[in-house]
Formats: sequence, C-alpha cells, structure tokens
Amino acid sequence: MGRVSHHPIGVDIGGSGIKGAPVDLKKGEFADDRLRIETPEESTPEAVAEVVAQIVEHFDNKDHDVPVGITVPAVVTRGLVRTAANIDQSWIGTDASRLFEERLGRPVTVVNDADAAGLGELQYGAGRGTSGVVLLATLGTGIGTALINEGALVPNSELGHLTIDGVDAETRASSHARESEDLSWEEWAERLQEYFARVEDLLWPDLIVVGGGVAKHAEHFLPLLHLRAPIVAARLGNAAGIIGAAWLAREHAHGRRTVE
Ligand code: BGC
Repeated sequence: MGRVSHHPIGVDIGGSGIKGAPVDLKKGEFADDRLRIETPEESTPEAVAEVVAQIVEHFDNKDHDVPVGITVPAVVTRGLVRTAANIDQSWIGTDASRLFEERLGRPVTVVNDADAAGLGELQYGAGRGTSGVVLLATLGTGIGTALINEGALVPNSELGHLTIDGVDAETRASSHARESEDLSWEEWAERLQEYFARVEDLLWPDLIVVGGGVAKHAEHFLPLLHLRAPIVAARLGNAAGIIGAAWLAREHAHGRRTVE
C-alpha cells in the first residue's frame, strides 16, 4: 500500500541505486523521505522498470496520477534510449517511455540524468537566476552534461564524450577516473582544467556548474581551475536529478514541451 502524495515524483536511475521521491516544486525539495533500492545486478530495462514501479507505487498508489519523471544515464530522444555508455547494452533502442508507461499505467517523462540535474540546478540551485548559457557537468562514473540557454535545455549534449588527445574525456576526467587511478586532487584538477578549457573554447558558457557526488568536496579542486566563466559547485547534491525530473514531468503535464 503506497502513501498518498500529490507532488510530482522524480526517479533517478543510476548504476548502483535507483532513487525516487515526491518533490515539492514550490520549494524545490523532497516532500517525503527518498526511497533508494539497489539497481538489479542484471540491469535490463524490464528489471529496472520493476524497481521504478516499486518506488513510484510506494509514494502514489495510483489513486493520484501525479506526473512522474524518470532519468536514465543515456541519450534519450522522444522517450527512446539511444546509447548505453555505463549501463546494460540492452537499453539501446528501448522505448523507455512506453516501457515505463505500460508498467506504471500512466504517462511518464524520460530524460537524460545530467539534463535533469541541470534543470534542477537552474530552477532551484546553483544556476538560479542566471541568464545566458549555463553548462552543468556531473562528474561521476562518467561525465554527463546539460546545456541550457536562457532557461531552455538543449537535450543530450553528451560533452563528456569529447575526445581530447584521442581519448574519451570521461575516461580521464570523471570522478571514477580519479578514484580508480588514485589521483591526488591536484592531478585530477589538471585533467579537469584541460577538459573544461576545451568545453569553454567551444561553447563560451556564462556559468559552469559542477555536479555529482564529488561536488561536496569542491573546495579541493575548484580553486585549482582557471577558466573564463565562473565555475561553481552544484547545490542540490544528488537530489538534483530527482528534482529536475519531477519539475520536467510537471512541465509536460501542463503541456509545456521543454524537451521533446
Ligand atoms: C553518458 C551520459 C550520462 C553520463 C552520466 C555518460 O557516459 O553518455 O548520457 O548523462 O554518463 O551518467
């Protein structure tokens, strides 16, 4: 038996955990305790959809068809998953919107995880009130990016896969790379400097926001970076994706097609 919530629900699908919560969009914060369930060992679309349903039904027992936004760590165009850099390859070609809608019996919004985090930070966090071009980069297992101009998202920017010196940027500059190669903050910052300088030369953002779990240690590496644009830590932490997904789902429920 689920709890009754009238707030839109955001669900964030990650490599190790699937997390969801109803979001109070007036405040930009969770309206109830977040529920986290381990990502199934075999993280096929069907197995993941089961967990997503458990989470959504925990908060909304279907009497209230609140909007649901779901993030995936992949390119998503019109509900279709197109890539699978750090998730099970069987996601490629999956119509995720249809899969979740059939399982949940209601419309859903499916969005790239970094795009959702970017929208969350723009509405309620470090990007709030910023005009012009905002670039959010989440540094985690991979590097996810959200590119937002005057509040409008350019979906699936995928700048974590820029090639620098013949190497996919996320394999050198992600948080995972820092941990697995046991890099010092200084060593990692050199890689970040190279990465963000390249991104900046191409896009000239007005603000760069750094997200992902490592953002809470920003004081160790952000002061070492020298870029044209201000570069700041995300404020919503790991909640950004859930909050942004719920925000986007509500936009769609109101007929505002922020992202197709
Ligand atoms: C994927 C992106 C995703 C990012 C963070 C990258 O490897 O290509 O779609 O946003 O990881 O999960």
